[in-house]
Amino acid sequence: MQNFDYMTPTRLIFGKGAVDKLADAIRPYGKRVLLAYGGGSIKKSGLYDKVKALLADCELFELSGIQPNPKYDPSVLDGVRICKEQKIDIVLAVGGGSVLDCCKAIAAGAKYDGDVWDLVIGAKPTMDALPVADILTLAATGSEYDSFAVISRTETNDKVGYCSPKVYPVFSILDPELTFTVSKKQTAAGCADAMNHVIEQYFAADTTLLNDGFCESMLKSLMENARACLANPEDYRARAEMMLACTYGCNGILSLGNSPSGWPCHAMEHALSAYYDITHGEGLAIITPPWMRHILSEKTLPRFVKYGVNVFGIDAALPPREIAEKAIQATHDFFASIGIPMTLRAVGIDESRIDEMAHHVAETAGLENAWVPLTEADIAAIFRASL
Ligand code: NZQ
Ligand code: ZN
Repeated sequence: MQNFDYMTPTRLIFGKGAVDKLADAIRPYGKRVLLAYGGGSIKKSGLYDKVKALLADCELFELSGIQPNPKYDPSVLDGVRICKEQKIDIVLAVGGGSVLDCCKAIAAGAKYDGDVWDLVIGAKPTMDALPVADILTLAATGSEYDSFAVISRTETNDKVGYCSPKVYPVFSILDPELTFTVSKKQTAAGCADAMNHVIEQYFAADTTLLNDGFCESMLKSLMENARACLANPEDYRARAEMMLACTYGCNGILSLGNSPSGWPCHAMEHALSAYYDITHGEGLAIITPPWMRHILSEKTLPRFVKYGVNVFGIDAALPPREIAEKAIQATHDFFASIGIPMTLRAVGIDESRIDEMAHHVAETAGLENAWVPLTEADIAAIFRASL
């Protein structure tokens, strides 16, 4: 087992009516609050009015219109400006992972005097940040329990993973009922995103029985509960388990002691959504099976066999290669069954920029250190096989 040094300081306030704890939870951090949200789902659901009522004794400043795949310019820059001008005490994200990621970058930028992009790309260390908290409305990214934020810069086709322990949310309010209104498309994409977070950690050289069991259980839970949420969007039990599973997905707890995997599907998907602004979870679902086929070899076969038998219940007596191929097909078929368009063409991506995107991934993500190293040619081949 590998050494590790681990901490997740976020307070999780989970369950029906959890939003009612907002005022108490925020009080220790101050009264000047940046309330940040997306394109309007929280107004439609009534959550916006509820938050304003709960924070009646705070001074609220608003940043609205944060888009999926949140943009550095204008959202991050606007938020930083408001925080500095208005001497904000705490940044409150109300929405999905995009709103929260944007708020994490804002919280760091608010305490920095130079170009905030330098923090995002890690050229400068994040020494300090405003506290950031969230009321999550979509189960997917795990941003509510991790120290990552993914920020896009349109003019350079960059979609960069920012990471700093300073931006762990100080608290995350997770009320599964707030996810009842999430569309079928976003429910499926959220499930695919969380499943891929698990897959990225499961497919590694050195893992433990403990972590493998967590991961296999997570994958089964995500698949079963996604089906239930799609069948009945107001199935509380399913939405709740989905939300908690997604929360566990991305903060590293599933791979403590494992060797690093390089998170190759995320590196490749971030290029797809940087160039074409597609939905992150859909991009992941599309490229995961072709990536699996590409890396299947005598060396990786035992992992695929374990995955096939323990996650999909494939007969362990079958020849190993057949189990692996069935497991990859089952992964594809599950994503298709929850309504994800399973080709790049179906989400508007054609051949024209594949080589450029592959070059971008190879240059920026360095997948030569992934569990199965990927060259620029490998990445382009996986993209082509996903068309
Ligand atoms: O903008 P609004 O109007 O709120 O609508 C959103 C948005 O259109 C809508 N939505 C959210 N909650 C809703 C709702 N609609 C109805 N009812 C609700 N309760 O859903 C749409 C998508 O929202 P978004 O926040 O973009 O989705 P998600 O949570 O999947 O976040 C995706 C972003 O997170 C990044 C992705 O790359 C992408 O940019 N990731 C962040 C990670 C992290 N911080 O750890 C890890 C992930 O791997 C991922 O890369
Ligand atoms: Zn993801």
